Amino acid sequence: MEKWYRNAAVYQIYPRSFYDSNGDGIGDLAGITEKLPYIKDLGASAIWLSPFYPSPMIDFGYDVCNYNDVDPIFGTIADFDGLVAAAHESDIRVFIDYIPNHTSHLHPWFIESRSSKNNPKRDWYIWKENEGEVPNNWLSVFGGSGWELDPITDCYYFHSFLKEQPDLNWRNPQVQNAMKNVLRFWLDRGVDGFRIDAIYFMYKDPEFRDNPLNPNYQPGIMDPYQTHLHTYSFGLPETLDMLKEFCDVLGEYKDTFMVSEVYAPVPDLIPFFKICSPRIHSPFNMNLISMPWDAVCYREHIEEIEENLTMEDTPNYVLGNHDRSRVATRLGPSRARLLAFLQLTLRGMPFIYYGDEIGMEDVPIKSEDAQDPWEKNVPGMGFGRDPARTPMQWSAKKFAGFSSAKPWLPIAENYVERNVEAESKDASSMLNVYKTLLKARKDLPALHHGAYSSITTDNHALYAFERVAEEEKLIIILNFSDQEQPVHLLGIGEVIATTDGRPAETTTTDLNSLVLQPFEGYLVRLS
Ligand code: GLC
Repeated sequence: MEKWYRNAAVYQIYPRSFYDSNGDGIGDLAGITEKLPYIKDLGASAIWLSPFYPSPMIDFGYDVCNYNDVDPIFGTIADFDGLVAAAHESDIRVFIDYIPNHTSHLHPWFIESRSSKNNPKRDWYIWKENEGEVPNNWLSVFGGSGWELDPITDCYYFHSFLKEQPDLNWRNPQVQNAMKNVLRFWLDRGVDGFRIDAIYFMYKDPEFRDNPLNPNYQPGIMDPYQTHLHTYSFGLPETLDMLKEFCDVLGEYKDTFMVSEVYAPVPDLIPFFKICSPRIHSPFNMNLISMPWDAVCYREHIEEIEENLTMEDTPNYVLGNHDRSRVATRLGPSRARLLAFLQLTLRGMPFIYYGDEIGMEDVPIKSEDAQDPWEKNVPGMGFGRDPARTPMQWSAKKFAGFSSAKPWLPIAENYVERNVEAESKDASSMLNVYKTLLKARKDLPALHHGAYSSITTDNHALYAFERVAEEEKLIIILNFSDQEQPVHLLGIGEVIATTDGRPAETTTTDLNSLVLQPFEGYLVRLS
C-alpha cells in the first residue's frame, strides 16, 4: 500500500501564532485542536508543530528545558494527547520538532554539567579550559563568538546559536541514548514523525581546529556569521551516521517519517535522502526559497531532483518557514500564487507555512517591538524573523480573530481583507487555489502518485511538465513572465485548476491555442 508520507501535504504551525484559545495573546495547543477542521478543509494531510516544550522562550521554544513535556504557555501534555487524537480522528498526521543540537541553559542536564568539572554530566556538553582566550574562532549563528566563559568552573562552553542554547556533545554515547529516548517518548504518544532542527550543527571537529576565513565575504552586506567557512563546526560526515541511527529508532514504530533542516544545494541533499532504508527520511529542500525567478532555473532544479531520486524517495519543496521572509513578500502576490501552483502539482511532500495559503505577508516590526533574539543581537540588518511569525489572520474581527487579547506580535495592517473568512467566500482567492489543488492531489491518481517529466517548449517564459499514472495524464503549464504567452502544445483536455481559482464550470481547452495571462498556471487532464 502507498505510504501516507509519499505525497502528504504538510502544514507548518508556529504554535505561538496560530490560534489563542485562552485569551493571553499567545497561541496554544487547544487553539490548534480547535482549528483542525480548518486544516482538514484546506486539505492538508499532516501538521508540523514548531516547539511547544517547556522553555524560557529566549529562542521561542528552540531552547528546550524539558524534552518530554509541554510549556504551560501552550497547555498541558493532556492537551497534546487530545490534539494528536483529534488530528488522527480527522486523518491528519502529526510531526513535531526535535531539537538535538542544543538544550536551554536551564535544562537540568546543563545545570548539572556546568556545576563542576567532575559532574557525571560534564561531558554531555562541549567544554574547554580557559587558557586566557577563546578556544578557537568558531562563531555563533546569532552573532559573536560561539564560546561563552562560564564563571562557575571558569571554562568555556560552545553554543552554535544563543549562549542560552549550549550545544550537546553528540560524541558522548549517553547523550545519544538520552536523545533517542526522547524520540521514543513522543512516538509512544502517537506522533507520526519529526522535523529535526539544525541537524548539520550536531557534530564538531574533535581537534577543534579554527575555521578558515570566507574569501567571498562582503562586509556590511553579508551576515557577519559568513566571515568564516564553517568547515570544522558544521556539516561533518558523522551527522549522516547519527541520522541513520534515528531512522533505526523510527523503524521500531510503524509508518513514521522524518524531515531534517538542511539548507544545501541538490548534490549535498541527495545522500540525506538515501541514508535510510526503507526511505523514511528526507532533508528539507529549501532551494526554491532563494531561486532566481526564471522558468528555466526552476525546471532544471526540479529535473535535477527527479533524476537523482526514485519513486521510493519523497522529494519535498519548501516555500517558507518561521525563519525566512514570507513568500508573498519575497516575490509579490502573483508570483507567490504561481509558485504555490508549482509546489502543489509536483511529486512528494509540499510544506505549507501557516498563513501562506491566504497570502500573508511579512509585517514590519518596530525595533522597540522586536522579539527575535537574532534581531536583538545583530540589529538593523534585516535578520529578524518576527515579520514572518505574526498571528494568523482568521477574520476581520479585532486582532484578526486570533485572540481576544493584544497578541504577542502585531497583526498585519491588511488583515481586514486578507483573512481566512474573507478568502473562503471568494472563489478566486489564494486560499481557493490551495484548496482546489490539495483536493486534486487526493483525487487524481496522476497528481497523487504519478511520475514527473518535463515538457520541452521553445518559450523560456513557460515551464511545462506532465504527471502520469495509470490511464491518467496531467499537464501543468506555468507562465513565469509578466506578459501573455501562447502555449502551442499538443493536446486537448479538461481544465482542472488555474491560478485564478477553480473554473466555474468544467471547461475544455486546446493546448495549442491556449494563451496564458501573466503569471498564470493551468492544470489540465488530457482527454
Ligand atoms: C533552527 C530553527 C530556528 C532556531 C534555530 C536554533 O534553524 O528553525 O528557528 O532559531 O534552529 O534552534
